[in-house]
Amino acid sequence: MTLLPHHRECPKFFGRRQGRTIRKAKSFLLETFLPRLRLEKQKISDVATCFPQKKEKYCLEIGFGDGEHLAAISADNPQNGYIGIEVYKNGVANLLSLMTGIHQGAADDLAQGAALLAERSDNVRIFDDDARLLFSSLPDQCFDKVYLLFPDPWPKNRHAERRFINAENLAELARLIKKGGILQIATDHPIYKRWVLEKMRNHPHFRWTAKTSDDWRYPPADWHETKYQRKALREGRRPVFFEYERI
Ligand SMILES: C[S@@+](CC[C@H](N)C(=O)[O-])C[C@H]1O[C@@H](n2cnc3c(N)ncnc32)[C@H](O)[C@@H]1O
Repeated sequence: MTLLPHHRECPKFFGRRQGRTIRKAKSFLLETFLPRLRLEKQKISDVATCFPQKKEKYCLEIGFGDGEHLAAISADNPQNGYIGIEVYKNGVANLLSLMTGIHQGAADDLAQGAALLAERSDNVRIFDDDARLLFSSLPDQCFDKVYLLFPDPWPKNRHAERRFINAENLAELARLIKKGGILQIATDHPIYKRWVLEKMRNHPHFRWTAKTSDDWRYPPADWHETKYQRKALREGRRPVFFEYERI
């Protein structure tokens, strides 16, 4: 038997798994609604089987944070299936809150929230752990699009190995994205901008699609602003939007 290197089986995660105390309504959502959408780490031979019905396209969002982009893009595109991954429990709770409309007083809103979720649970699945743990369970060439929006920049040199864009994760993403599919990366951090350009330059499996500077200076037409994007703009940092085609 070939053993995987230790860090592949149990990668070390350096971010936060939980923040402020999760309020009653959101705890309720985690207990009641998350199990209905949760993807377990098990072999998935076809991503179509994650959803009750076959979908036109399958997309993955890694590190969805508060879930604004995922909630909006999945609501706009009921024909597509979305897998969202986030290790931060408060963020997962927030996504559920956006999907159900339940923000407080869970008991009062329960019936309405359950109805909304029933509608929405058709095209969203959640993996609430480290993305790298799910990768090996997924089949080759299964996603049409992967979103990595405002990943933690880990700006200090000595933390560079923690950055999500690295050779090992790119190899996995190249395996998971269909030929002609898209890897969308957004960042506002100057160090991470350079890092992405450097790691992707001459990558054998990805081609930068930008033809003019407007293509990376402005978000795509179907974009939904995220919390970290708003934070960047408030603090005077200009985000960039890199789109790479899997070749
Ligand atoms: C800077 S935040 C950006 C959140 C969101 N995409 C946005 O734009 O507002 C990065 C997020 O990625 C998540 N994250 C980082 N590494 C991850 C991993 N290996 N697996 C799953 N989530 C991860 C963090 O928990 C955090 O919520």
